[in-house]
Amino acid sequence: MELAKKNVGAYAADLVKPGMVFGLGSGTTVYWLVQELATRISQGLEITAVPTSEDTKRLAEQAGLKVIDLNEIERLELTIDGADEIDPRGQLIKGGGGALLQEKIVAAASKELIIIADSSKLVASLGKFPLPVEVIPFGYKQVEHQILDSGICNKINLRKKDGKTFVSDHHHYILDCECEKIVDAASLNISLHLIPGVVETGLFIDMANKALIGYEDGRIELINFK
Ligand code: A5P
Repeated sequence: MELAKKNVGAYAADLVKPGMVFGLGSGTTVYWLVQELATRISQGLEITAVPTSEDTKRLAEQAGLKVIDLNEIERLELTIDGADEIDPRGQLIKGGGGALLQEKIVAAASKELIIIADSSKLVASLGKFPLPVEVIPFGYKQVEHQILDSGICNKINLRKKDGKTFVSDHHHYILDCECEKIVDAASLNISLHLIPGVVETGLFIDMANKALIGYEDGRIELINFK
């Protein structure tokens, strides 16, 4: 799927117009967008990005993009980001890379959210990909109990990286919740938010306007959600 990611990432560079301030997502598909933008910057393109993670901030700076903080602007016209699952209505699971909180804040500040992904991310219903839930470290086991007791999912894994507990850019933990099949993503998002200690969920409800999907044969499909 790497070729599909590369193609769709590079293709999406056309969405970023000269002088634009845009939200820049995180992940391996966005990586290819940044590589294409770096080429265009070396040819004179001037653009400014609001990054959705520390990793993306570093990547963007290395590529020559001007980077600013979300607090420096009123509103964004556009954010381009990846996704872990995309259902036919455009509901998403995000956060595979652990950047869901900042990604959701930037997406919410954007008039338009365009998702770039390879075709393996298209699903009939969300839930096969474990749902990331960002939590405050204090008492996170209580949050785990509440999620399990409510029957929301069958199993929860505290995310680890290199053998240690993964800590997000905003100093939180991530619970990867194995739900199998999410029937009502909007209600689940609200239910999770009602649990004290939950900071954010990887469910992006009614946020994506469009998706650009890359296929291994080089084809790129545009899906409009609203
Ligand atoms: C980062 O936290 C995620 O939301 C990514 O946007 C998502 O995991 C997609 O990543 P890839 O483009 O690497 O598949």
